[in-house]
Amino acid sequence: MRTITLIPGDGIGPEVAFAAQRLIDASGAELNWEIQNAGACMIERFGTPLPESVIYSIRRNGVALKGPITTPVGEGFRSVNVALRKELDLYVNLRPVKTYRGIPSRYENVDIVIVRENTEDLYVGIEHMVGGDAAESIKVFTRKGCERICRYAFEYARREGRKKVTAVHKANIMKCTDGMFLGIARDISKDYPDIKFEEMIVDAMCMKLVQSPESYDILVLPNLYGDIVSDLCAGLVGGLGFAPGANIGNDCAVFEPVHGSAPDIAGKNVANPIAMMLSGVYMLRYIGEIEAADRIEKAISYVLSEGTVKTSDLGGSFGTKEFTDYMISRL
Ligand code: NAI
Repeated sequence: MRTITLIPGDGIGPEVAFAAQRLIDASGAELNWEIQNAGACMIERFGTPLPESVIYSIRRNGVALKGPITTPVGEGFRSVNVALRKELDLYVNLRPVKTYRGIPSRYENVDIVIVRENTEDLYVGIEHMVGGDAAESIKVFTRKGCERICRYAFEYARREGRKKVTAVHKANIMKCTDGMFLGIARDISKDYPDIKFEEMIVDAMCMKLVQSPESYDILVLPNLYGDIVSDLCAGLVGGLGFAPGANIGNDCAVFEPVHGSAPDIAGKNVANPIAMMLSGVYMLRYIGEIEAADRIEKAISYVLSEGTVKTSDLGGSFGTKEFTDYMISRL
């Protein structure tokens, strides 16, 4: 039986993580769960928000399902999420964005997969003050980092029967960093003549996504643009409540929703657990539990299209727990 590391996280994390766990257990997938905690609550006991035991557990099991973890803004400890991605070299951040019937959205037929580089760029955190009145942050791109993310995007496209990869950049301004990324994307595209290749400057990309998102298939982006554009895309299909994500490396993978810990609604039993549940669907597919994954995704589609059982972000009155109970009854 496969063991999965479950990191509930904080804020709404435990509410949505345990909801997803219950649904997955009910889906027929045979899994053991190893619960590991990370975040501010661990600092007092371990002196760090990310204890070594969490990393060991993910390395040992190869797969984790993770709830969001709060990062203090402008001060305090550095992001646990970024540290986890770096420590485990989870270089791909996969964020699928899809319209579901029943979800309020201005668009139809959106089905985009964002392939975001997850370890480099301004997120390496090399920042310093220059005197008291200036600050610098260093943007790091490597050939290896660009090659493996672009290669992953094309391989994913081929494996999933996708038609087009769009490389998103700002190489007109950042000729070294983004220029290298774009050059590598162009070179790698030549190995995949069956997949259409397109390039787009990030600002134009944002406009086009708002105008005609159904024209896009797979987007491959450096870390910062990927972070921003994936929230934009989540907004196209009804918001963060429906945006699942995966962080994937060569040896292990961590599946988590795009949304954060939502401290404004934590502990109130109102959080929408669907993004967490969909992250679980992608996790099940990753470990080969395809039937269970399909069963859950169908139940989610079905419940959404029924349109009567909804959490409050969708204008409904069901709590996280009651919504999950109903979802389980529809598996
Ligand atoms: P957020 O995603 O937590 O919340 C943004 C807005 O969306 C809030 O109004 C919130 O109530 C709502 N929202 C988010 N998820 C929801 C859900 N499942 N159901 C219903 N409403 C939902 O973003 P914010 O406020 O910028 O970040 C809060 C904290 O989360 C920060 O400390 C941030 O660093 C952390 N964070 C952690 C992530 C992770 O662990 N992977 C990812 C993003 C943010």
